[in-house]
Amino acid sequence: MCGIIGVLCKNSNAGKIAYEGLKRLDYRGYDSWGLAVKNDGLLIYKRTGKITKLPKKMFYGSCAIGHTRWATHGKISVRNAHPHISQNGKIAVVHNGVIENFQELRDFLAKKGFSFSTETDTEVIPMLIELYLSRNLCFRESVRKALLHLKGSYAIVAISELHNSLIGARRGSPLVAGFANGTFLLASDMQAIAPYATKAMFLEDSELIEFNRKAKVYDIETGKRINKPVKKIDLKLHSADKRGFEHYMLKEIYEQEQAIKNASLQSNALIEKVTKLIKQAEKVFIIGCGTSMHAAMFGSYFFASIASIQANAILASEFQNFLNLVNKRTVVIALSQSGETADILEAVKSAKEKGASVIGIVNVVGSSLTRLADATIMMNAGPEICVLATKSYLAQLSVLYLLANSLIKKHEQAKKELSEAARLVPTIIKTNESKAKRLAKKLKNAKSIFIIGKRESAVTALEAALKIKEVSYIHAEGFASAELKHGTIALIEKNVPVIAFASDASDESITNAIEAKSRGGFIIGVSSEKAKCFDYFFAIPKSKLFSILSIIPIQLLAYYLALSRNLDPDKPRNLAKSVTVK
Ligand code: F6R
Repeated sequence: MCGIIGVLCKNSNAGKIAYEGLKRLDYRGYDSWGLAVKNDGLLIYKRTGKITKLPKKMFYGSCAIGHTRWATHGKISVRNAHPHISQNGKIAVVHNGVIENFQELRDFLAKKGFSFSTETDTEVIPMLIELYLSRNLCFRESVRKALLHLKGSYAIVAISELHNSLIGARRGSPLVAGFANGTFLLASDMQAIAPYATKAMFLEDSELIEFNRKAKVYDIETGKRINKPVKKIDLKLHSADKRGFEHYMLKEIYEQEQAIKNASLQSNALIEKVTKLIKQAEKVFIIGCGTSMHAAMFGSYFFASIASIQANAILASEFQNFLNLVNKRTVVIALSQSGETADILEAVKSAKEKGASVIGIVNVVGSSLTRLADATIMMNAGPEICVLATKSYLAQLSVLYLLANSLIKKHEQAKKELSEAARLVPTIIKTNESKAKRLAKKLKNAKSIFIIGKRESAVTALEAALKIKEVSYIHAEGFASAELKHGTIALIEKNVPVIAFASDASDESITNAIEAKSRGGFIIGVSSEKAKCFDYFFAIPKSKLFSILSIIPIQLLAYYLALSRNLDPDKPRNLAKSVTVK
């Protein structure tokens, strides 16, 4: 959700660096974008839509901030795009998060003579900073005092025409500081700063950083200095180019062989530590949102069928309703690609307050969840830039499969099975990619697609529906196959597409697929065997891990559906990669 960046540099290229960094953040939100550069005064440039060219005059300056927006308060317009400026035009601020008490603050500021020109919650921040500057406080103290008024979540970066520093602060939204020779950077995530910085520092909630000649960190509440370590960056972990693929989505689907392999290469010591926590627990919850919730559901099937352990999969956004069941004998396994999803972080914080132990399964290095969890298993899937989760999902499933097996001391065998499954990925892509392309052309005007599967494949059906919906905007619905006859079959008529996941021709889903076919449904089988009822067939080689691998043809179908409808698969409308608001 919203990408923010700030740059302070010796060589007057701050605008250019901020612009380049912003382009690496646009997967976080792409409703509108903007930059402010400090040159003689503050120059502001804002546009709606995805990031396009920046006028050359914006490249030069000692200080710059940038923002790519995912609208929360106020419609998508140039006016509402960030940066927002103070009434006197001398302070510019970019913000990610939601200021809950913005109306109250607007009323407070209006009484003091401030007037507003946008519909955003953010605009109160530069106004408050101006208010404190007018009381002769320094820039840093004015920003800090302004932040004390805010309720809600924020990561902000502020610059001032009158001061030579760059200030960032966070509460509830991510912010990382980067250091290179003479250049200081602040951004929502490492990808934006990795090409420039050699060292980094992750800010925690309630911390403010001021860069001028040096970097100094302060506690927002008390104003006291904090000493924080700066860490060397492993650039490889943050490199994210398309490597010749037209879109990140396709590249990331292709990377799933490696994603499964890397996810299964966990240290035995870590797996033992986590397994011990789970075994000692009285209750186990697995939580996530969206695709990560589907992985959580998969996990609960794996834990039950492999290790006979009950683990309830709960939506992170609904977890508050289960808190009365949580205590110090509870383990919460929190799944998140980004490690920054607001619903997950809130659930984890509440669980920890009740004394639960938290195991994070996370992809993004240094993200908030990794810092909150008692133990973290990294997925090691590499940067996932496409807004849709693909390789991170397979990585999550692999980690959960490994964990379930380690509970019965079979993790070495599970590693081998995962590595065999990984080897099948290129074959699955090769056999099915052109079929997916052809099917996409046929289905591109479909009104609805129904998707069925049994056991873990019932979850694959949910995930397949999500992939199709979010990237092609075609309505898709997934459910456990036996449920078809309990209602949805009423919607099946001639040529309605029904995707059936069936491990082989004797899978129980086949019966339900036949029921749909009898009503005229067009049956698309994803299976290791071609059943008679299939009108179209995606082949998966026979594998114990069919349920993990069988999503791949539908990821490809979703990708080609988007292309056949002239949509950008990497940036579907209304979405953002990292959902840092509630
Ligand atoms: C779907 C998708 C989302 C995310 C969800 C959780 O393709 O990407 O549904 O899975 O927003 O995100 P993380 O895993 O970062 O917590």
